Amino acid sequence: MSERPAIVTEGLKKAFGRVRAVDGVDLSVAPGSVFGLLGPNGAGTTTTVRILTTLLRPDGGRAEVMGHDVVRDADRLRASIGLAGQYAAVDETLTGRENLDLVGRLYHLDRAEARRRAEEVLERFGLAQAADRIVKTYSGGMRRRLDLGASLVGRPDVLFLDEPTTGLDPRSRLGLWELIRELVRGGTTLLLSTQYLDEADVLCDRIAVIDVGKIIAEGTADQLKGRVGGEVLEFRVPDRDRFADACAVAVALELGAPNMDKETGKVSVPVGERGSTAIIRAVRELDSAGIHVEDLALRRPTLDDVFLALTGHEAEVALEEAVANGKRGRRGRRER
Ligand SMILES: Nc1ncnc2c1ncn2[C@@H]1O[C@H](COP(=O)(O)OP(=O)(O)O)[C@@H](O)[C@H]1O
Ligand SMILES: [Mg+2]
Repeated sequence: MSERPAIVTEGLKKAFGRVRAVDGVDLSVAPGSVFGLLGPNGAGTTTTVRILTTLLRPDGGRAEVMGHDVVRDADRLRASIGLAGQYAAVDETLTGRENLDLVGRLYHLDRAEARRRAEEVLERFGLAQAADRIVKTYSGGMRRRLDLGASLVGRPDVLFLDEPTTGLDPRSRLGLWELIRELVRGGTTLLLSTQYLDEADVLCDRIAVIDVGKIIAEGTADQLKGRVGGEVLEFRVPDRDRFADACAVAVALELGAPNMDKETGKVSVPVGERGSTAIIRAVRELDSAGIHVEDLALRRPTLDDVFLALTGHEAEVALEEAVANGKRGRRGRRER
């Protein structure tokens, strides 16, 4: 398509002292599409979103949203976007309705129009019952819905959601996914950051995987999952003294490079399409080595698996460690 992208960045950079939070990011997001920035804590996704929403100035490169430069046309850019984040930016001492009214007035809507849009958002986001309650009494899921609703009062062309579901319980998470999907059916362009591959999978047309300020892969969820190579066999070794032996068994299966975490006792192995035979072989080998394991299962790949597959880095470190001293495993790289 020759249509102008809704979001473009070229060589975008931002450093905080010696930390290169965003280190040469090139993005192009088609209008009406959902684009995911997928990365672990500290990858630089919030910094990218803050630059694109004019809350931070870049140090280098350039970025445009709906044709507006983030630095030169910041005012016009702001009028065409909405932003909702991991930490709901709503006023706890006001009611849900008052919060939305306030946002409407920030967008210079007249009073009647602000009321009307607030009403619409409350209805659509299942907050009508709670509209006149102070936000302090809302659950986490309700706050997030209100925050998301507030970002829509100005009817933005482009919506930015920074980790919209982090910290939510599974039910609220599903509810929010439903809402987000409904939104984008209406043609809104959405850029969303997340730490969850399954979330990106459900919501995004395209995904960029980010690690320490750089894009290390880009494609559809299926393409990324393809890089991992199908499912992952996982089990836990409760007896830490047998952890190294269990790792050796995982290596001997000769499937994919195992990921081992001594701290949690977890071992995971990418098994491609050979899930059912892999699980049988693993059970047999572990059993004949006299190693007791728990929670043995096949699961879908996560961001950790994608990272491992893309960089190979953790696998090497974990393998070296396992081989070198047989006792110590890697630490989980992500804070949770
Ligand atoms: N205002 C700031 N001052 C100093 N360092 C920051 C600031 N904001 C972010 N950083 C650092 O920049 C890196 C990227 O941060 P961030 O964009 O928040 O990552 P993410 O949202 O992907 O978790 C991290 O190392 C973080 O500590
Ligand atoms: Mg963040």
